[in-house]
Amino acid sequence: MAESFDLVVIGTGPGGYVCAIRAAQLGLKVAVVEKNPTFGGTCLNIGCIPSKALLHASEEFEKAAHHFAEMGIKIEAPKLDLATMMAFKDDGVSGNVKGVEFLLKKNKVTAFKGKGRILGAGTVEVADGDKTETIETKAIVIATGSDVTRLKGVEIDEKQIVSSTGALTLDKVPEKLVVIGAGIIGLELGSVWRRLGARVTVVEFLDRITPGMDAGISKDFQRLLKKQGIDFLMSTKVTGVEKQKKGLKVTTEPAQGGEATVLDADVVLVAIGRVPFTEGLGLDEAGIKRDDRGRVDVDDHFQTSLAGVYAIGDVVRGPMLAHKGEDEGVAVAEIIAGKAGHVNYGVIPSVIYTSPEVASVGQTEEELKAAGIDYKVGKFPFMANGRAKANRTTDGYVKFLADSKTDRVLGCHIIGTNAGEMIHEVAVLMEFGGSSEDLARTCHAHPTLSEAVKEAAMAVEGRAIHM
Ligand code: FAD
Ligand code: NAI
Repeated sequence: MAESFDLVVIGTGPGGYVCAIRAAQLGLKVAVVEKNPTFGGTCLNIGCIPSKALLHASEEFEKAAHHFAEMGIKIEAPKLDLATMMAFKDDGVSGNVKGVEFLLKKNKVTAFKGKGRILGAGTVEVADGDKTETIETKAIVIATGSDVTRLKGVEIDEKQIVSSTGALTLDKVPEKLVVIGAGIIGLELGSVWRRLGARVTVVEFLDRITPGMDAGISKDFQRLLKKQGIDFLMSTKVTGVEKQKKGLKVTTEPAQGGEATVLDADVVLVAIGRVPFTEGLGLDEAGIKRDDRGRVDVDDHFQTSLAGVYAIGDVVRGPMLAHKGEDEGVAVAEIIAGKAGHVNYGVIPSVIYTSPEVASVGQTEEELKAAGIDYKVGKFPFMANGRAKANRTTDGYVKFLADSKTDRVLGCHIIGTNAGEMIHEVAVLMEFGGSSEDLARTCHAHPTLSEAVKEAAMAVEGRAIHM
């Protein structure tokens, strides 16, 4: 007889494993199915965790090379031991992956290794090589994540022409790196290799970087990245990448067509987005619908078109972010257990872990304008913040957007050191429907970078003290 569960989750990325743990906490008998040798999905194995480890290590390398001396720390020019830096990254991945394995065991979640396929409501087949087994379950959650978007005519070999996966495992620093796409991956991994010595050129189809981000922040962010030495070719498309005896020839054209230009590169990183991953899941046979962008179609309760089958994370609509998947995992587990699970999509922070970091939550100025909402802006530069001045981390500013009539905070955008940590006080404020005055009247410890967040909130009413 097939083993039977209350819930089977297919995929153990941040969406899937968090969903499994929450469901187990609520008393359900839960299993996960994972096709990869390790748990944790894209995020832990080839995404968030390894990229942040390399961002951290490369930033320290750059500090040692260029910023220690000004603080009176005299050292020889640092030497890069890339193999050890990669081992540092791998160690971080392995620690996190083992952590997920421990948590699944601790919560008595049964793990099936193999590729999951939905045979119909309540039945999942797991195939591991020649071996297949069938599991019965009351509910199924699809959490199969996403994969790299391919560029026509540019064959990824993960050595010379790489996706983010190959860019996390290069065995030498490329002399010239061409990045296709000025999105989050291109700018984070472009920053890593620039800091380690590569000459980085980013080719972007649009006339701006990081589409979707507040336009003012995006412009200032690009200016800072340029100052650091990243070159940008905007409104430009790559039409082909050709392998030469030595290196690569990258052909580009203006986005709207026109004369071709050729760039030399040792490595090309294709970072033009990600697509939902549903291969081999049996969606069509099971009658599970997709939306117009190939994502599993779900309603507000993560229910697919087949009763008892739910979907979360990168494979469904919404931002492709680990914490969005995690929150959906918790919400769907609660719904399946008969509780009221919910995700507030209006308050999902987003962080780019470059230096300085860029963090935002809520709406951008462009979104507010398009929605016809009257808003006020409060801005405060880190140049006027005591701690930033002492630490010489004065690049960037905090920008608040608050409703003109009610003062309710509608968005906050920060560019600056530790922006990714500071954004959360605004996320909490927004969850409580708070106003800029609420934050402006909250005592902040001195000297902290967070005081700039408070001052920006004060600036909404034109009463920042240090400006
Ligand atoms: P995934 O993490 O993709 O996990 C899906 C899992 O399902 C995988 O383990 C896969 O093997 C498994 N699977 C798929 N099909 C089957 C099947 N049929 N049977 C069994 N198993 C299956 N997000 C952030 O929020 N912060 C970051 O800093 C960040 N950095 C990133 C850096 C990079 C380089 C990349 C590529 C992504 C980054 N992301 C980041 C995005 C983040 O990784 C994803 O949003 C997140 O992993 C999505 O989680 P998920 O659970 O939906 O899917
Ligand atoms: P992205 O969607 O962030 O950016 C892709 C960029 O490529 C866009 O600027 C787009 O205009 C450009 N582009 C598309 N086609 C192009 C072409 N043919 N030529 C030139 N440019 C082209 O995608 P990215 O960077 O690949 O990241 C995928 C997702 O992974 C992100 O959307 C994000 O959700 C997630 N991620 C999150 C991170 C974080 O939270 N810190 C870090 C890394 C990834």
